[in-house]
Amino acid sequence: MAATTNNAELLQAHADLWCHTFGYLKSMALHSVIKLGIPTAIHRCGGGASLSDLQVALSPIPKSKWPCLSRLMKLLVASGIFRESEPGVYSLTPVSRLLVEDDIDGNQQTASTCLSKFTVMATSPFHFAASQRLPEWLMKNEDDADAETPFKMAHGAGFFAYTGRDLEFGTLFNDAMGACSRFTAEIVVRECGGAEVFAGVTSLVDVGGGDGTTAKAIAKAFPHVRCSVLELPQVVDGLPVDGVVEFVAGDMMEFVPQADVVLLKFVLHNWSDEDCVRILKRSNEAISTGANRKVIIIDTVAGSASKQTFEAQALNDICMMVLTTGAERDEEKWHRLFLDAGFSRYKINPILGSQSLIEVFP
Ligand SMILES: C[S@@+](CC[C@H](N)C(=O)[O-])C[C@H]1O[C@@H](n2cnc3c(N)ncnc32)[C@H](O)[C@@H]1O
Repeated sequence: MAATTNNAELLQAHADLWCHTFGYLKSMALHSVIKLGIPTAIHRCGGGASLSDLQVALSPIPKSKWPCLSRLMKLLVASGIFRESEPGVYSLTPVSRLLVEDDIDGNQQTASTCLSKFTVMATSPFHFAASQRLPEWLMKNEDDADAETPFKMAHGAGFFAYTGRDLEFGTLFNDAMGACSRFTAEIVVRECGGAEVFAGVTSLVDVGGGDGTTAKAIAKAFPHVRCSVLELPQVVDGLPVDGVVEFVAGDMMEFVPQADVVLLKFVLHNWSDEDCVRILKRSNEAISTGANRKVIIIDTVAGSASKQTFEAQALNDICMMVLTTGAERDEEKWHRLFLDAGFSRYKINPILGSQSLIEVFP
């Protein structure tokens, strides 16, 4: 009996190890089906389709490769990305619905819930090349400037310097951040409305606010809040002027424009504790004269989570380790940063799984 159990355990462990070892192939299969537009094509076929139903979408693929594509779909069905509603007919699951580009009315414009651009960036050769340097990086001394991050070892520049240096990577990254912001902006606005986060606030600066998606959503929902975005010159230079949001080119380590509220959304997890304290101090200086002054941080507060969310947090944390000097932080670590930057109190509002809106007060 014991031998049978051991044998069963051994077989299970063997299968589990195979799944972990080849886990990167799931990412590659996912990357491939997004590039081929399969989730959107299934959606346009009414939510369920065979590969031959998807002929137009799959036209760049030679007929000889179609059997390979069905093997790819088999893996993605096993991983829960698609469902095989009947043999050879694939339908969307909640996960692949996040990869559909059409909006809710079927218009062919990017849906606010579409995260395909984020997934394409995170499964791109830029990320893979960086993650492959992880073991070598772990053995490097901290004072080796060329080995600051695995990303820098792979690409010869820090993450944000590289977004300005390599046009393909910069575009991939900015598109990915735009998609993430569209996804969370509505939730943020809804949560902020209910919680009266913006009551009495007249101005806000979104520091590291990317293409201004979040600032525009806030300006639209709360017209009494004048919104601006502080970003690196390389990001601001390529953006159209629309008059809704003012863009300021600059370096948040040096200066943050004055406003009642400084917003830092998915910014601090990119930086070391030392850099976070510096950014928070600049932010504290920027809000020092406003009546309803505070810093709003939207970021992960690691900890108490379901198994699935816990694994997502742990993966995100390693992603920060590979790409940047940052980390995902638990409440205790956030609290320490706030004290070190001279703030007196904070309030955490969970808004999206483990992602929270933290109000920090001087
Ligand atoms: C992870 S992205 C977050 C973007 C946006 N807040 C969002 O939630 O989608 C970090 C942003 O910080 C910007 N950034 C990096 N270093 C900066 C600096 N020194 N000063 C201002 N912005 C910076 C990057 O260009 C990038 O857009």
